[in-house]
Amino acid sequence: MQKAENQILIIFGASGDLTKRKLIPALFELYKQNLLPDKFAVLGASRSTLSDDEFRKRADEFLPNNEKLDEFKKKLFYQAVQNNSAEDFKPLKSRLKEITESLGIEKNYIFYLSTPPSLYGIIPKFLTDNGLSTSNKYFRRLIVEKPFGTTLESAKELNIQLLNYFSENQIYRIDHYLGKETVQNMLVTRFSNGIFEPLWNRRYIDRIEITSAESLGVEGRGGYYDHSGALRDMLQNHLLQVVGFVAMEAPVVVEANAIRNEILKVFQSFRPIQENEVSRYVIRGQYTESKIGGQQVVGYRDEPGVDRFSRTETFVALKFFIDNWRWAGVPFYIRTGKKLPTRVTEIVIHFKNVPHNLFGTSSFEHSNNQLIIRIQPDEGILLKFGMKTPGAGFKAQTVNMDFHYSDLADTNVPAAYERLLLDCMQGDATLYARGDAVEAAWKFVQPILTAWETNPEIPIYGYPAGTWGPEDSDKLILHGQWRYPCKNLTNDGLYCEL
Ligand code: BG6
Repeated sequence: MQKAENQILIIFGASGDLTKRKLIPALFELYKQNLLPDKFAVLGASRSTLSDDEFRKRADEFLPNNEKLDEFKKKLFYQAVQNNSAEDFKPLKSRLKEITESLGIEKNYIFYLSTPPSLYGIIPKFLTDNGLSTSNKYFRRLIVEKPFGTTLESAKELNIQLLNYFSENQIYRIDHYLGKETVQNMLVTRFSNGIFEPLWNRRYIDRIEITSAESLGVEGRGGYYDHSGALRDMLQNHLLQVVGFVAMEAPVVVEANAIRNEILKVFQSFRPIQENEVSRYVIRGQYTESKIGGQQVVGYRDEPGVDRFSRTETFVALKFFIDNWRWAGVPFYIRTGKKLPTRVTEIVIHFKNVPHNLFGTSSFEHSNNQLIIRIQPDEGILLKFGMKTPGAGFKAQTVNMDFHYSDLADTNVPAAYERLLLDCMQGDATLYARGDAVEAAWKFVQPILTAWETNPEIPIYGYPAGTWGPEDSDKLILHGQWRYPCKNLTNDGLYCEL
């Protein structure tokens, strides 16, 4: 792989959690694999006053001990920056100049916004005021962390603000689900095999189901989460992007615009859920206190930072349709939630049943073929199909054919942030969300949010922490049921090892 040009990554919000937990470790991984540019530096920026050494020490806590660590840490620098005026960015500008000159790095800059979202519009302005945003001889790129807006209107507003200072091809809106190897593999599974794509449409597919379950609760993020909820936190962004990959047409080439055009078309084809249809198509829930493995766990409303009368959903299940030639009439189901029995994200393609049942109903009732694409954990692919039960007569039973990424022993599966940072360094925006697609996703989700906000009579169901969410989410699926996944890809059912 060709190395990216020499450059500096400037992280705003450098004293925050994401920088410590994800960004610096991802950069260190890239460094160990010799994937960083030959000349490279990270300039952390935030309001706190820290020296380079103190910033490096903080990084230590999250990095594995390794012989390359000391060398890597020399690439880390820090600059305190206030965000009150363009004047406040002058020290940052001089620091950048000093680093580029002393290390002989070209003035290629990536600015990473990992700050509170209220600063997403302000920082780009101050960068522009200081002449730091225009790409000419050197590139200037801007990575924007989630959340990208909290409503359709605020997302549109943010796009307008950013586009005042950076052009669309300089803006990289991060969605870490697109950085997951297994999500990208969706495209390869679909478009590098002759056997799936001919079946990948309304003629052969009965329904598509996406589950993204987490066993953790809000984990100290109650203050943020209570203003967000599962629909904004997981579905509007991560899971709709996954739908984009599952449902899109083949792109003309594997290239940012070609792929992103196809994703946009999927989002534009979502059949809108009108406000008065929300209770029919969307089920929301909130976890209540319960006992998991003998341990008492608190309900959502008792989590720190959460309003004790909160009606924020920690679970959402949704049924919807994609009104286009390929998917007409095929229901899509998505569910996601916190404090569910296990952590798993997977896509289940349910194929239609055979037209005539030769082998007797009782033995064949579960035989509709399923293709399960496991995003995490036990990443892999599972195909379920009917086979003859050995012995007399003709009885059929469902068997599994499975592939697990762990079988690729010598292949390193990069973490999402490694892949995404490296792509941005190389100027490849394929796995970043484009502004128009983000707005189209918000357009679909907004009526649901509005209905919930304006119609308190739409129920929010309690579900005991550690269960699969409100029972009503089962009723969304008219025939059949959700697959109840287990930790291991090949197992399923309500009762399994978690
Ligand atoms: C984040 C959400 O974007 O994604 C979290 O804010 C959620 O609430 C997380 O836990 C899930 O990501 P992953 O990669 O652990 O599935």
